[in-house]
Amino acid sequence: MSFSQDEKKQAAAEAACKFVLNDTIVGVGTGSTVNYFIDALASIKHKIKGAVSSSEASTKRLKAHGIEVFDLNEVDSLDIYVDGADEITEHKHMIKGGGAALTREKIVSAVAKTFVCIIDDTKQVPILGSFPLPVEVIPLARSYVAREIVKLGGDPEYRMGTVTDNGNHIIDVHNLSIVDPIKLESQLNQIVGVVTNGLFAVRGANIVLIGDESGVTEIN
Ligand code: 5RP
Repeated sequence: MSFSQDEKKQAAAEAACKFVLNDTIVGVGTGSTVNYFIDALASIKHKIKGAVSSSEASTKRLKAHGIEVFDLNEVDSLDIYVDGADEITEHKHMIKGGGAALTREKIVSAVAKTFVCIIDDTKQVPILGSFPLPVEVIPLARSYVAREIVKLGGDPEYRMGTVTDNGNHIIDVHNLSIVDPIKLESQLNQIVGVVTNGLFAVRGANIVLIGDESGVTEIN
């Protein structure tokens, strides 16, 4: 029997529930895999205090399930942050931001002790960069940042029509072979006008749950 990509996402998302501790506030990411996690979280909502959300979309879904959503500023620490990824390596470095929520995702994940990454097996890669790297920019800086990205060897493309939850724009960077993601994450952050980039390498995942043909594989 073979599983569809959605079934694999759902299996990984449901497996993440075992990391949710009683009476805690859970950090929640964004995307189609996380939507399955939110739906699974609803079935154990009596166990938790609530959630901190990384996007307006996730907030809406959490609230629709009757899960209380806290402002991150009210929360000192989070035990876990659960989120998907667009690409991940064996070193647990990721590209994220396909859903344009990268900045809030990076902020909420920074507060969490453990980042639980939930993916289907198509997201595993030997080297990051086949998936275009999202960079959130202040709108005024878009062209300047694009020119600086060209100097770093990337091909920037403005994601037309997308405005982030923070009111900013996204540049997707194509044709990068990211051999040193920690270095590139820092280099991109040095460009004036960049809010965040979608490399999650300085702070990668701690636990990866992969929905695959065997069910769910856990990597610690
Ligand atoms: C959103 C993200 C998502 O985690 C990433 O795009 C994966 O999404 P999906 O679970 O839909 O494949 O970073 O900004």
